[in-house]
Amino acid sequence: MGFALRLMCAHEIIIGSRKEDKARESASAIMQLEGANGNTWGTDNASAVAVADAVILCVPPEHLKSVTYDLSTSFNHQLVISPVVPMSYDGKFFRFNPPPEGSSALQAKSLLPPQIRVVAAFHTVPAASLQASDRILKGDVLICGDDAEAVDMVKSLTLEIKNLRPLFVGPLAASSQVESLTPMLLNVARKNKIKEAGVSIISERPPAPN
Ligand SMILES: NC(=O)c1ccc[n+]([C@@H]2O[C@H](COP(=O)([O-])OP(=O)(O)OC[C@H]3O[C@@H](n4cnc5c(N)ncnc54)[C@H](OP(=O)(O)O)[C@@H]3O)[C@@H](O)[C@H]2O)c1
Repeated sequence: MGFALRLMCAHEIIIGSRKEDKARESASAIMQLEGANGNTWGTDNASAVAVADAVILCVPPEHLKSVTYDLSTSFNHQLVISPVVPMSYDGKFFRFNPPPEGSSALQAKSLLPPQIRVVAAFHTVPAASLQASDRILKGDVLICGDDAEAVDMVKSLTLEIKNLRPLFVGPLAASSQVESLTPMLLNVARKNKIKEAGVSIISERPPAPN
């Protein structure tokens, strides 16, 4: 819902769900929240993917296959954005729990048709912060991907969310480094009573003059 609220003023948003009714209800809730300011509608996952230009994989890591491989016939040209974080909580702290491919983004890439470009991004932006659509967000969005044009498209989407700064990290092979920041952030937040922690890369030096 958070991505929809943040991006709907400039894009048609399609909410996907395993249940078409649920997707329609979510879409109408979003339209009500934003005073019908935009075009948001809902349908089943396969139909949503089939008509989308970009797909954000908003499912828990253990269900990635059902929104990638199982919908392979719906994917042909789309840009796929993975904010998926493979992690677990053992009652004491959050652990990074990557799949055999090395990261959820790499796993998604392996489950999709070969021409589909996958970009990993938004792992360190809390859903609650995105959903508070009147809140000015803080922080950086760390982005990994193998295709320069696809990375630029995700950078542009990031810049549509006021105050977020997109930073390119490297190829999709580097995505495990970014995914692993989220369990660390949750641990720091929990131990230090910080709400909705994010990431911001600092520079100790002033910017070089032009
Ligand atoms: N929450 C955050 O702050 C945050 C921050 C950074 C990254 N992420 C990542 O973003 C992803 C989504 O997080 P979330 O908190 O939104 O997760 P979530 O609320 O637990 O689940 C999101 C959706 O996944 C779908 N889903 C559940 N079981 C499924 C299944 N068996 N097959 C297919 N779809 C299923 C459900 O949609 P339907 O019932 O409508 O099908 C559900 O609404 C995760 O990978 C998470 O690591 C989350």
